[in-house]
Amino acid sequence: TWTMARFRDVEIEKIRQQVGDKRVICGLSGGVDSSVAAVLIHQAIGDQLTCIFVDHGMLRAGEAEEVVKTFRGQFNIKLIHRDASDMFLKALEGVTDPEIKRKTIGRLFIEVFEEEAAKIGGADFLAQGTLYPDVIESVSFTGGPSVTIKSHHNVGGLPERMNMKLVEPLRELFKDEVRDLGRELDIPESIVGRHPFPGPGLAIRIPSDSITREKLDLLRKADSIYLEEIRNAGLYDAIWQAFAVLLPVRTVGVMGDGRTYDQAVALRAVTSTDGMTADVYPFDMGFLNRVASRIVNEVRGINRVTYDITSKPPGTIEWE
Ligand code: XMP
Repeated sequence: TWTMARFRDVEIEKIRQQVGDKRVICGLSGGVDSSVAAVLIHQAIGDQLTCIFVDHGMLRAGEAEEVVKTFRGQFNIKLIHRDASDMFLKALEGVTDPEIKRKTIGRLFIEVFEEEAAKIGGADFLAQGTLYPDVIESVSFTGGPSVTIKSHHNVGGLPERMNMKLVEPLRELFKDEVRDLGRELDIPESIVGRHPFPGPGLAIRIPSDSITREKLDLLRKADSIYLEEIRNAGLYDAIWQAFAVLLPVRTVGVMGDGRTYDQAVALRAVTSTDGMTADVYPFDMGFLNRVASRIVNEVRGINRVTYDITSKPPGTIEWE
């Protein structure tokens, strides 16, 4: 759009002014925000930018590969891909509390990020894909008292610790505007149109339970069947966020002539404009039946599927 083309040009100029000939590092997660921030900054300052992708092993199926392919292959952006999944899983061993999960992942993320940044000699600037709602939500929480509902995973604290200045070109934008900007920058629709994904990843979609590779694999399988069906039904873009949640409960089922005693998943899908409030997506029963039967038939270890019908508030979008 015309306004976004103009916004892009103005921001590119601002980034050049701010950064000069100094170096910038950017934490890339593969999500919409950090992707758009990275490509925009790359257009402004080219190889003065290095992206660091800390792979915590709790991404969705195929996600890490796509990040690397897109940013190195298509955009020629300097990208460090650090597979730190063993470290994260070890640190999360036995952890079931949501806030401890979030803080453990946040702390480790910063450690690994710092380590990788040090390897390339550091930088003067840190780029972040902070959006307007992030700025707001960190100040207070809509519809409630000023308490911490969830410790959001971001690199807060990092700039001071590493003595870096922030580059936050998306600070004035809402999500849909960031997507428009991303399209203006020729970022593939598969990334620009992607549903939001929380920093702590699948770890917070295995609620009140500890995280293991086996549970992550189970969740990934169910989640990708669900998303595949949503895409096939042409519903992906009408939904703000859709995902599966692996429940820490085993229930009895029947398969053929046999009894099963396996885990249950909950499916969640919401509409929203900024993630601060959300409504449940009203799938028709035919769709839900199809997804449930595919998950139970195709994912060994899951024998029951439920649909979460809680809006935000009083529920939050993620379960933890
Ligand atoms: P909740 O669950 O609080 O989530 O209703 C609102 C939106 O934020 C996403 N979310 C996160 N995003 N780091 C992020 O970058 C996080 O730690 C985090 N936790 C939740 C969530 O997916 C939803 O889009």
